[in-house]
Amino acid sequence: MNTILLGPPGAGKGTLAAMLKDNFGLLHISTGDLLRDEMKGGTELGKTIKKYVESGELVPDQVVIAMIEKKLSEKNSGSKGYMLDGFPRTTVQAQDLDKILTKIGQPIDYALYMEASLPVILQRLTGRRVCRKCGAIVHIKNRPSKVAGVCDVCGGELYQRPDDTEETIKNRMHVYAEKTAPIVDYYAKQGKLETLSGDEETEDLLKIVAKIFNDGQRTDKIKGSTGH
Ligand code: AP5
Repeated sequence: MNTILLGPPGAGKGTLAAMLKDNFGLLHISTGDLLRDEMKGGTELGKTIKKYVESGELVPDQVVIAMIEKKLSEKNSGSKGYMLDGFPRTTVQAQDLDKILTKIGQPIDYALYMEASLPVILQRLTGRRVCRKCGAIVHIKNRPSKVAGVCDVCGGELYQRPDDTEETIKNRMHVYAEKTAPIVDYYAKQGKLETLSGDEETEDLLKIVAKIFNDGQRTDKIKGSTGH
């Protein structure tokens, strides 16, 4: 079950990905996480990446494509497929991804597109906290940890991402509309698109996705255009 997760910042891609990983044994590959790991390492590349990420701009295509190619080429014996979260984000990335997947013989089965409204996105991202140690995602109101500031999973410290300020979120939304939204049509044309409402509860979304995976049933019958 090779899947990509598309959708604006804060639609809930990372949260759903964690549940799909646990329930379907998919390998979760998030370019946001890969980039943050590189930043943590303090390398020259990490310093360059930081400027893009913290201002809400996209990191250059060649940097993220190289990261994804490396990750997908590694042996992942235990998993039942991959799940790409936050990649592709431009038409160039989508086209290059297809070339890589053809080379490794692992085509995409589903492109899950999570729609979400702006007020929901702002509420979610300004209240999001992430564990420094294990990367678990919580929300101070929607999905709070038992003890404020402490991760339920590993006891690590919960922090607010520097790009989760209102000003940077607005720029991320602008960049999304300009550069990423057009690739929704790219996958509609391939007949792989499934549109989900990101405004729904994650548990409900999980049931909908389970049905799509189990039945091989497509909910998005219109191929060629999504109106986005
Ligand atoms: P990335 O880390 O990918 O961020 P993003 O796409 O902006 O997405 P988010 O992680 O902000 O949101 P999400 O949809 O995963 O929501 P989440 O599940 O956390 O990228 C960061 C940056 O890296 C980019 O801006 C760019 O600079 C760079 N980058 C990454 N990939 C790149 C690429 N391919 N090319 C170039 N540059 C790239 O949920 C949000 C909150 O809502 C959480 O608090 C959660 O608890 C809560 N929540 C989630 N779902 C629900 C629900 N159903 N109900 C209630 N609350 C919910």
